[in-house]
Amino acid sequence: MKQSVKMIVGNWKMNGLAAQIDEAREVDAVLRSEQAESRVVICPPATLIHRVKMALEGGRVEVGGQDCHAESCGAFTGSASAEMLADAGATLVILGHSERRDAFRESDADVSAKVESALAYGLEPIICVGERSADRDTGRAVEVVTAQVAGSLPASLEGKAFAVAYEPIWAIGTGRTPTTGEIAEVHAAIRQALVDRFGEGGRAAPILYGGSVNPGNAAAILRTPDVGGALVGGASLKAHDFLAIIRAAH
Ligand code: 13P
Repeated sequence: MKQSVKMIVGNWKMNGLAAQIDEAREVDAVLRSEQAESRVVICPPATLIHRVKMALEGGRVEVGGQDCHAESCGAFTGSASAEMLADAGATLVILGHSERRDAFRESDADVSAKVESALAYGLEPIICVGERSADRDTGRAVEVVTAQVAGSLPASLEGKAFAVAYEPIWAIGTGRTPTTGEIAEVHAAIRQALVDRFGEGGRAAPILYGGSVNPGNAAAILRTPDVGGALVGGASLKAHDFLAIIRAAH
């Protein structure tokens, strides 16, 4: 049976000035010529969303945000709403990234409210979950992640397009990754939680793996059962590396 299309998402985090758009252009140009099958998304910082969107017009690379506020507008200095991201050209948004959960003390309930707002403005949410190294060391990884899935995914996701990203916190930016067996175990638990919650519809959402994905380990990770794609940080900043990861998906 043919493998389903993988979703490869680049999270640029707080990296990228105007010159970085050239990397997105290069990814786009190569994908136009290669007819790659994967679904490819780039999530630049909010300041570049519109320019990246314009640069990729007519191509098949989609553009997403990295966070949004739960409200659509108001006195929230420094924040951007889902409506604003959509207005700038984003069609997806990463929510509940561990860097937001940690640095901005976002709870599961906060993430759930942001997901509701993203859906209200037509953005496809990519909802991140993941355990700390202490949780893994004490055998609680699956328990922690399934609790995050339960608390961060609102009922209104039923029937909507969304993705879940499993990002073990200790694997982000460290060069360390779980074994493919460990990834498979957590992805199976997330899948079960999605099916328990949303019925058969819970089988459609891709479950991405994120945390130190690079051109060297991408193929093995992407072949792991129930890994529907990758959420890539550092290696998404260079077109050459990001393209190698995209190619590893097929
Ligand atoms: P790295 O790929 O740099 O480890 O980052 C992963 C991540 O946090 C993607 O959202």
